[in-house]
Order: sequence, then structure tokens, then C-alpha cells
Amino acid sequence: MSWWKSAVVYQVYPRSFADSDGDGIGDLAGIASRLDHVAELGADVLWLCPVYPSPQDDAGYDISDYRAIDSTFGTLADFDRLLAEVHARGMKLVTDLVVNHTSDEHAWFAESRSSRDSPRRDWYWWRPPRAGMEAGAPGAEPTNWRSAFSGPAWELDPATGEYYLHIFSRKQPDLNWETPELREAIYEMMRWWLERGVDGFRMDVVNFISKDPALPDGRGDGGAFVSGSEHYICGPRVHEFLAEMHREVFAGRDGLLTVGEMPGVTVEDARLFTDPARAELDMVFQFEHVQLDQGATKWDLRPLALRDLKASLGRWQAGLAERGWNSLYWGNHDQPRAVSRFGDDGEHRVRAAKMLATVLQMHRGTPYVYQGEELGMTNAPFARLEDFRDIESLNHYAESVAAGADPEHVLASLRRMGRDNARTPMQWDASERAGFTTGTPWLAVNPNHVEINAEAARADPDSVFHHYRRLIELRHSEPVVAHGDFTMLLPDDERVYAFTRRLGDVELLVLGNFSGAAAEAAVPSGERWRAAEVLVGEAPDGLLSLRPWEGRVLKARSAR
Ligand code: GLC
Repeated sequence: MSWWKSAVVYQVYPRSFADSDGDGIGDLAGIASRLDHVAELGADVLWLCPVYPSPQDDAGYDISDYRAIDSTFGTLADFDRLLAEVHARGMKLVTDLVVNHTSDEHAWFAESRSSRDSPRRDWYWWRPPRAGMEAGAPGAEPTNWRSAFSGPAWELDPATGEYYLHIFSRKQPDLNWETPELREAIYEMMRWWLERGVDGFRMDVVNFISKDPALPDGRGDGGAFVSGSEHYICGPRVHEFLAEMHREVFAGRDGLLTVGEMPGVTVEDARLFTDPARAELDMVFQFEHVQLDQGATKWDLRPLALRDLKASLGRWQAGLAERGWNSLYWGNHDQPRAVSRFGDDGEHRVRAAKMLATVLQMHRGTPYVYQGEELGMTNAPFARLEDFRDIESLNHYAESVAAGADPEHVLASLRRMGRDNARTPMQWDASERAGFTTGTPWLAVNPNHVEINAEAARADPDSVFHHYRRLIELRHSEPVVAHGDFTMLLPDDERVYAFTRRLGDVELLVLGNFSGAAAEAAVPSGERWRAAEVLVGEAPDGLLSLRPWEGRVLKARSAR
């Protein structure tokens, strides 16, 4: 039961992990050839981002066939081989399930758009132009919702004179979950993958699947188009749909892991989604802590206050303490590199990467490690617009520059926040293409691979890699890490992140210095901790004294 409480998940972004055939794009055979790296780290689960056939408008999150593999990545036989190799190492494989939308090249959409009376018309969201307006006229979109990738969330289909909804790119039409046959088709597809042997799903923006069917205009006065997300984030039937999915797909199957990606989810809603008694999901990815360094949009950068980070993560720890479960992450394929964003990717890179790992992994919840994080990989030195590949960045640039923004200013925010930072090829060794490919990589290799790479990390006992290995081992061997309760300390300290975990008479004190200056951890019962055992890290200057960006775990037996 709940095996995933003591598990660690490793996320693989297939395009950028390992290329076996020299076309410059990673593939399934490449992943299979590098599995020992993941096994050596000690990860229990591998989460594979989408490898299904796709026009690749949004790097595979635009799926045109749910039951096959894109030829760029290999074949179903390659998938089965990878799955067998993962299982042979005692690990599990979780795949990406993208069912809020499909590609506009999916057969379902082709049929849906073919005519207003197509039997699949209601599998997507079709609406006539706004009352009294002509199709295609400015502002005639059925609602004022914005797409997450810039511009309106509606696209006119001239053949039938109606618009379809796309919260993401215009090549990602939203599925209409109000239609029972559509839901059944999805459940059937999910059962098909489970029968093939996969061990669960990471569900893409799954809290967007229930829209208010009236599709009202969005609130706010952000110009012609506003988010509108209050009408589809955790919409009216989302719990009902996920409970139904559980009954139809997961009930009676053991050993699975389900995690829902949920932008905008609140703690209260997350508790409902992950309360085992309600049988919906095992855990969710929430977004609060990755939005603290931004204003109205992700491109509007602000300095992060450590106090805010502690308040946020602390609230999630408390909110899911009794019921529900947290997933823990600093980064993924959509976020900048953790060490560049939350730590120091210069002088103190190694220490900062280790500290971030220590602090995150010692929280209560299931940690996710994004490929390359275990090496302390950094953001990329993108110089010009041509260096970027991601649709989100390119659309944002085009839209803001057309609206008069300073191109240099926009580029500066892409460099900091752009998703391509996380998508540069995995750095395996110091050779010219980092051991990723023999061809031309689809996105440039970070030049710092000569120093930061897996081969060097494996050879160095003090590396970030070996630090991750020890943390994962600790989760497997010390029950307090997975099961202990959590108490945040020093909420107002601007430099030190500190908390305790306790199970029975075992207590851990976790410390992280989020600054480039030495710091003293002024924790309560300091005397007691000064006599504790150092479980993770070093303590050259004293048990409560931290060097710049240093992290540490102390262990004590408490007299309760
Ligand atoms: C999720 C994915 C992201 C994708 C979006 C649309 O947020 O993680 O990569 O662009 O959904 O599918």
C-alpha cells in the first residue's frame, strides 16, 4: 500500500536524454542504453514524457495517435523493450497521459471538424462566433479567453464557420469531457497501456478537463483577452471525472502511481484529489512555489523571498499532513534549471545543487528528479532568439515585440524563464556533443558540459550525483524520511531554511542556507542539536553553522 511514499521518481525528457541513431533527437533505444545511470542513482520510477506520434508543435504534448510511438523515438517494440529493461532493474515506468487536448492532426479531431453533424463533433469544444458578429471579425471569438501560448484560445475553422477551443497552441484543441463516449475512449486507451505493462500515469494539466459548459467570458480587464482560467481550473466536474477514471481504469490494479499536473490547484482541492478514501489520484503537482518569483505572468520576473517559499511549501506540508500526499519538485521540462533559479550556478554551484536536493527530498512527499538535476545542470547561455525552440517562448516574443516591447527585455526574460533551459541535451561526458548524439543536436548542448557531466560526476565521490544517490538511499532506509511528520522552523529567517521531521523517537533537523554568506541556524533547542549526529553533509564550522549555500541533515533521538 502506498509504496510510492518511499519512492523517488526520475523524469526523462526523451528528446534530450540520449540519441541512439544520430538524428540529433533522443529516442527510446537511447534511453534504454542509459538506464544504468538512473538505476545507480537509486530511483524507483521513471516518468517518460510523451513519445506518441505527434506533429511536435508542443514537443510531443500534441498527440495525434494515443496508441503508437512517434518514429522519431522508435517503435512500439522499442517501447516494450525499454519497459522490460526498466522492470528488469526493479524500477517502474510511468508514462505521460495528455488528455485535456489532442493534436489537431488526431483522427478524432479530423472527424470532429469535418462537419457540424459529425458524430464526433462534441468530442471537442465548438462554438459559433460571438452573438451578432461575423466569423473571423476581430473580437468575434466565442469568449475572451487567452491561450497559454499567447493570443486568443479560439481558432476559426472556415469549413464549418465555427471556432474550436485551444487552451494551448492552435494545434492542441481541447477535448470535451462532457461527452461520455469520449471519456470511455480515453479510459479504454489507458487500460490498453496498463495491460501493456506501464505502471501508471503523469496526467498533463488534468485539472483543466472540466470546463464550465456555459463557457462564460473571463473576468478581469487585461485587454481584449484575459486568462479565463477561473472557468476551467478545477472546474465543476473535475472530481467526478477523476473518480470515474479511477473506477474505470485503476480500481483493482495494484502497484500503480498516478500524479496529476495541476496548475492553479489549491491545497484544499489537492487534499480532495489525493485523499485515498475518495479514490481519485495518488498525488498532484501544484505550482505555487514555482510562481513566487514572478508577477502577473511567468515572464514578469521578481526576486524570490525565502520567507515566501517557506510559507508556501510549509502550508502544503501542513495541508496534506493528515489526508492526501505531496509531490516534491524544483524543476521539470517546463521550468528553468533549479540550481540557476533557486541556488547559485556560479561559484557555489555544487554546494547549492546539493543543498536544494537535501531540502526538497527531506520534505514529506514523493520527490521528482528532473534529468540532469542530479548533475547540477544549469540554465543555457541562449544568446539570440534563434537559439530558442519552444513554442511558448517564440509566441511570447512575437506577441510582445509586436505590441511594442523592447526585444532585449523580452529576450532577457526568455533566458531566465524559457522552457528550453531544461531541454538542452543531457550531459553525459565532456566530448563535443556531450555524449548525447553523434549528429547535430536539435537544441544546442550547454558548453559547460566539459565540466558538468555524468562521467565526471560518477568519478567524483563529492559530486552532486553521489549526493542525490545518498539522499535517495536515505529515503529507502530511514522511515522518518517518508513517514515522519513535518514542522517548519524559522519562518522569517531570510537565509536559512529549517525544519524537523519526526517519527517515534527519531528526529531529523534539516537545514539549508539559501544565501551566498555564512549563516547560523538559530533553531529552538539549539543545545540539543549541537550534540546530534550529522546524517547528510558536513559540519566543519559547527553543527548549526552553515557555509554559503550549504545544506545538512542532523539526526537525534528525542526524549518525548
Ligand atoms: C503541461 C506540459 C507542458 C505542455 C502543456 C500542454 O504543462 O508539462 O509541457 O506544454 O501541458 O500540454
